[in-house]
Amino acid sequence: MRLDVITIFPEYLEPLRHALLGKAIEQNILSVGVHDLRQWATDVHKSVDDSPYGGGPGMVMKPAVWGPALDDVAQGCGLAALTKELSSSLPHKDKARHDDVEGVDPQRYQDISVREGEDPSLPLLIVPTPAGKPFTQADARAWSNEEHIVFACGRYEGIDQRVIDDAHNRYRVREVSIGDYVLIGGEVAVLVIAEAVVRLIPGVLGNRRSHEEDSFSDGLLEGPSYTKPREWRGLEVPEVLFSGNHAKVERWRRDQALLRTQQVRPELLDGVKLDHHDKKVLGLQ
Ligand code: ADE
Repeated sequence: MRLDVITIFPEYLEPLRHALLGKAIEQNILSVGVHDLRQWATDVHKSVDDSPYGGGPGMVMKPAVWGPALDDVAQGCGLAALTKELSSSLPHKDKARHDDVEGVDPQRYQDISVREGEDPSLPLLIVPTPAGKPFTQADARAWSNEEHIVFACGRYEGIDQRVIDDAHNRYRVREVSIGDYVLIGGEVAVLVIAEAVVRLIPGVLGNRRSHEEDSFSDGLLEGPSYTKPREWRGLEVPEVLFSGNHAKVERWRRDQALLRTQQVRPELLDGVKLDHHDKKVLGLQ
């Protein structure tokens, strides 16, 4: 997968070199380019924003800067070709991770993100904005199959809307929000989305079995986990986890997931198929 990020704060994207993403870069599963938007500014002050038409507070990012930046990055040409590749921060060697599942081939998710009338061969442009559609695990799964994702980081009051409208000619465009709160810019949202997507690429995080039990994968939040010691500060690990009975442990895990979801995010249960036992656990019958 190729990731390109366009931002006025390239240093903000430094975390992409570390940990899991750094490992993916090192394994040639991922390559990353972080581009300084100011390269495409043409005036002496390298300005990227201007006052909003119609008045109001803040500044709006200029189409004359964003347009050429998105043109170049879509094709990896012009000024975009001069950007240094992001390198991995640490050598990870071929050490197996604790979550690698032996003897199971990495498998791709089948999901794809193509809307009616869109050309699937175009790169995906993700524009983080609090005014976007909520980013979900289903998006992360679908986007983990992309060859080329470009992130456009807006700041101030956002990017001139015509940039987004025009980008549809060269990209499949997705405006997304990572939550109902307002950040100063899209950079942190890019880190969040990139991590959620890249960990699902086959070979990055063990394999598909490693995330099948994630929160949201079956529509439920994940229940509690425990490790050694068996007793800690007077608190015991639940007895059932020592039973050696796989079916019983799985049933207990699902019960815990159901109860946590009911307590913390009850609205999620509307999208989950519940059988007789599930309903009994939830006190619904
Ligand atoms: N930019 C500013 N706030 C944001 C949010 N909540 N999600 C995505 N991008 C943003």
